[in-house]
Amino acid sequence: MRIINTIIETQQFLKSQSGAQIGFVPTMGALHAGHMELVKRAVRENDISVCSIFVNPTQFNNPEDLKKYPRTLEEDCKMLEEVGCDVVFAPSAEEMYPNLPKMKLDFGDLETKLEGEFRPGHFNGVGIVVSKLFHIVKPQRAYFGQKDLQQCAVVNRLVKDLSFDLKLIICDTVREESGLAMSSRNRRLSETGRSQAAFLYQSLKLGEKLFKEGLTALEVKEKISRAYADRSYFTPEYYEIIDFETLNNIDLYKKGNKTAIVLAVFLEEVRLIDNIVF
Ligand code: PAF
Repeated sequence: MRIINTIIETQQFLKSQSGAQIGFVPTMGALHAGHMELVKRAVRENDISVCSIFVNPTQFNNPEDLKKYPRTLEEDCKMLEEVGCDVVFAPSAEEMYPNLPKMKLDFGDLETKLEGEFRPGHFNGVGIVVSKLFHIVKPQRAYFGQKDLQQCAVVNRLVKDLSFDLKLIICDTVREESGLAMSSRNRRLSETGRSQAAFLYQSLKLGEKLFKEGLTALEVKEKISRAYADRSYFTPEYYEIIDFETLNNIDLYKKGNKTAIVLAVFLEEVRLIDNIVF
């Protein structure tokens, strides 16, 4: 496995592999079983697999969050080597941004709701770094986790609007036995926090059940909001029932429509997100 820190070396190496199909998994490191599923799939489906590890400063609207984001490069590289990853691209912030980009990407209502409401500028940062990474790696396939549902919608739009010649592959969320979605942020939770966080998935499943039983989105949200209020260790940000494609809110369950429930909460000062699709 090659670990490369510069853009030029990554481009030169990948260019020298003429004709090879490249599968790409962009990450911010602190890898877990969820990332590993993406990388394993990239290894299986391509001639060359590339994983980038870069904690992108421009997508953090909260400097504390950026400071506390776990950085575990050595451990990450070991995990990647074990699953047969070919190339790790791990640039510094100076390498990626000799000058901070002045351009702005605007994803319209896709970026102003949900995460966008609580993390202004986040998707501009994601869009720019993902575009840069796609230009550097030039993959035929790029793998993203459904846990970041809104990010998937934004990247899908980016690929279409900027005509990136690649296939976007969205992979299922990987969960711990308790139902807690795998996330790099979970390692910042205490043992107690980790078991309390299992409620996130339970609240999504309960919402799905109630919605399918015929409750309106508002009624479901009221019940769920009471359940969170009973657990005062949570500070909920949002819990919304939305159309999977447009991310628009929906009021009533309609069989055959792809629906998602998405949420964000703080627990032990760690911001956690999750979703289910049905
Ligand atoms: O999902 C992430 O880890 C990041 O948002 C991504 C796609 C690597 C861009 O920095």
